[in-house]
Amino acid sequence: MPIPAPPSDDQVLVVIIPLDTSGTGWQACCAELPGDEQERTRRYKYDADRLRFAKCRCLLRRIIADWKGIQPLQVTFRLGKNGKPFLCHSGGLQFNISHTHGSAIFAFCHEFEIGIDIEHTERDADFDGVALKVFTPMEQNRLLQLNGREKRREFFRLWTAKEAFMKATGRGFSLNPSSIETSLPENPGQPGTFSCDTIENSTSLMVTEVPTPPGYQTMLCAPPPVLSRPPSVSYMQ
Ligand SMILES: CC(C)(COP(=O)(O)OP(=O)(O)OC[C@H]1O[C@@H](n2cnc3c(N)ncnc32)[C@H](O)[C@@H]1OP(=O)(O)O)[C@@H](O)C(=O)NCCC(=O)NCCS
Repeated sequence: MPIPAPPSDDQVLVVIIPLDTSGTGWQACCAELPGDEQERTRRYKYDADRLRFAKCRCLLRRIIADWKGIQPLQVTFRLGKNGKPFLCHSGGLQFNISHTHGSAIFAFCHEFEIGIDIEHTERDADFDGVALKVFTPMEQNRLLQLNGREKRREFFRLWTAKEAFMKATGRGFSLNPSSIETSLPENPGQPGTFSCDTIENSTSLMVTEVPTPPGYQTMLCAPPPVLSRPPSVSYMQ
């Protein structure tokens, strides 16, 4: 599968990758990784998790190496305070990744820190019960007014938007999800906004829905300059 072209200056590039949930083929991906990432791959108990990590790292390295004209093993990462990976010697290239049952997704852009979250939505849960723990009262009310598939859809829209925000700020779950107020417009083509007292520039981040295959919900969080155009979406095997 060819490597997609790098992102342009004013647009986020999103790459969607199918993951075999049986975990078949993890060894081949693992063999392409440096020693520490091979060790991390083997530490996962299940083959599905080994494939998820090894395949994502392997493709991430191949993509970045191709753009920079280096070998995949020459790509190096560093971790932020709450574990967010960044590129060393990035030349301004930023990325974030997310994975769920059967799919992974990468987002790339220039200069701005971004966050992406994909969730598999075909699973049942007590959506109102979970919302009481992780949503604000306004978000809980919005959900209470909906039923069936509409409730499920709104739950995952709100949740992926929040997680994309937590990942764009690099704070992850050190940030309480119920401290983030998420405003999503009815029209999925319009960007949504946030407010969060503990994040200084929370209102300068926006969120937009990324079109993903049926059964998945994806949100991308970034500052407005790179959301003025919808993200460009590519698929890789
Ligand atoms: C980041 C986090 C929200 C991801 O949640 P998730 O639903 O399990 O996973 P996703 O598939 O969406 O994303 C995982 C990827 O996000 C990236 N990531 C990890 N930490 C991150 C952070 N703080 N911010 C942004 N991205 C992060 C990694 O690339 C990771 O994939 P990898 O481990 O294969 O490289 C969560 O793992 C987290 O909060 N981690 C930080 C730990 C922390 O702060 N703990 C506080 C104690 S409560």
